Amino acid sequence: MGSLELFAKENNVPIIQKDGLNFLINFIKENNVKNILEIGTAIGYSAINMALISSDINITTIERNKQMYDLAKENVKKFNLENRINLIFGDALETIVDGTYDLIFIDAAKAQYIKFFERYKSNLSKKGAIITDNLNFHGLTAHPEKIHSKNLKALVSKINNYRNFLKQNQEFRTKFYEVGDGIAVSKME
Ligand SMILES: C[S@@+](CC[C@H](N)C(=O)[O-])C[C@H]1O[C@@H](n2cnc3c(N)ncnc32)[C@H](O)[C@@H]1O
Repeated sequence: MGSLELFAKENNVPIIQKDGLNFLINFIKENNVKNILEIGTAIGYSAINMALISSDINITTIERNKQMYDLAKENVKKFNLENRINLIFGDALETIVDGTYDLIFIDAAKAQYIKFFERYKSNLSKKGAIITDNLNFHGLTAHPEKIHSKNLKALVSKINNYRNFLKQNQEFRTKFYEVGDGIAVSKME
């Protein structure tokens, strides 16, 4: 797995942080998660790590960037996981996914988190969970006054909107964890 981490670092590909990944792996083990839908594949790092937990775990993962999708395809092949990781090339805001999943992992464009959540919540099994990463956004969501760039300010404000959306959501109960870059676990009430 070291090679994927190294590639991500050298090529500035954002991948889940180590302790965030460990959190995800423990969650999958403790909750006996078998079917996972991931929004945001990048080079396949998190998908491959989740698939390696157990041979009865299946993952569908969506990526809109062709270069990333192609790299993920190569990496999945290297790990012989083609039969358990289903890579979808497309925009997750338009993709239609069938079936239900024990876990939906949202790790794509941060400004669109509410849209992803609303679009895919119907694909969640009754006792399933939606996990979202990057909710602290390097500590900036708690300290928006430190940001000077207009674009970054807008993005941080969108992430904070998503946090509020989760907090006020009547259908889902969310727990926030100060792990990795900030993780939320949302389950149906
Ligand atoms: C943080 S990276 C994913 C990292 C990956 N989950 C991991 O930890 O190894 C986010 C990825 O989401 C993709 N993405 C962003 N918006 C998307 C969308 N609307 N549909 C599909 N993919 C999207 C980006 O191209 C990028 O590769």
